[in-house]
Amino acid sequence: MESPVHVPVLASEILELLAIKPGARVLDATVGLGGHARALLNAAPDVFLLGLDRDERALEEAGARLEEFGGRAALRRMRFSEFPAALEEMGWDGLDAVLADLGVSSMQLDDAGRGFSFLADGPLDMRMGASDGLAPASRLVNKASFEELRRIIGEYGEDPMAGRIARAIKAAREKAPIETTVRLAAVVEAAYPAKWRALARNHPATRTFQALRMAVNRELDDLAAFLSNIVDYLRPGARLAVISFHSLEDRLVKQAFRREAAGCVCPPGAARCVCRGMPRLAIVTKKPLTASASEVAANSRSRSAKLRVAERLAQAPAAARPEGA
Ligand SMILES: C[S@@+](CC[C@H](N)C(=O)[O-])C[C@H]1O[C@@H](n2cnc3c(N)ncnc32)[C@H](O)[C@@H]1O
Repeated sequence: MESPVHVPVLASEILELLAIKPGARVLDATVGLGGHARALLNAAPDVFLLGLDRDERALEEAGARLEEFGGRAALRRMRFSEFPAALEEMGWDGLDAVLADLGVSSMQLDDAGRGFSFLADGPLDMRMGASDGLAPASRLVNKASFEELRRIIGEYGEDPMAGRIARAIKAAREKAPIETTVRLAAVVEAAYPAKWRALARNHPATRTFQALRMAVNRELDDLAAFLSNIVDYLRPGARLAVISFHSLEDRLVKQAFRREAAGCVCPPGAARCVCRGMPRLAIVTKKPLTASASEVAANSRSRSAKLRVAERLAQAPAAARPEGA
């Protein structure tokens, strides 16, 4: 069987901005097939890397690809929001660099049996981790109310046709449950007005599939939980890099970085600062970095990638900050 392929995106930018030092402890929150992880382990002598993924199959692949690093690479199956448990188990009390490369890998997309893509027929599953206790996409598609489907497709898929698509799904499943990727794609395509279909750059089902995947895996919840905890574990000078592929993910990252860079967590509009919070992060990328034209030409997946990086500041004493600042 051929080895699955996944080309890591923005790899040289990641290496430059994470600036890995000898002996660094690195968390790769989404190790996938280990492409970024290999580069990070090779970036300096004696680097130790902890790689997480919720997908058993990805971890098997990463394990084989990182074997040459022996005990310098450790892998754990879990959602990245659960990372503190893995750090505790490793006996790591802090991190020097963290990478989260969000979304799905090409390996997941290319496996028809996983149901992420409509390019080949497969069961409507879309779960990244079979043991996460989540229901497959077929449950959502066949059981969710019209309102719920419209919200998911409109919000996560940002599809202006969300209402028409949700209505079409409801009508189709009343005839027979929708169990396969190709049937769902055909239902969505038929819901699009012919004029839109003719003008569309992507298949009309692309956004619906992305939206369902995000809902099935509760991707935004996991990202929000990860972002709210990770800064506690960064050593002074440590860098945190997040690559996102969706505007809602990028917004969560931007807001979390801004919050930590501002320090104050008092409600907006509060008359004066009562939290005496100190900034904990400095934002390294004022605007998100995107892939170069040559990277996009070589790897179309990089087209929508946005990279944001921040650095952990050394904590100054709380008293040094004037009230109201
Ligand atoms: C884009 S791929 C990462 C590819 C990797 N950087 C490489 O170079 O091979 C994203 C990976 O993150 C995993 N993943 C996505 N969300 C996750 C989460 N909340 N917790 C753990 N793993 C997650 C997916 O299963 C997938 O393997």
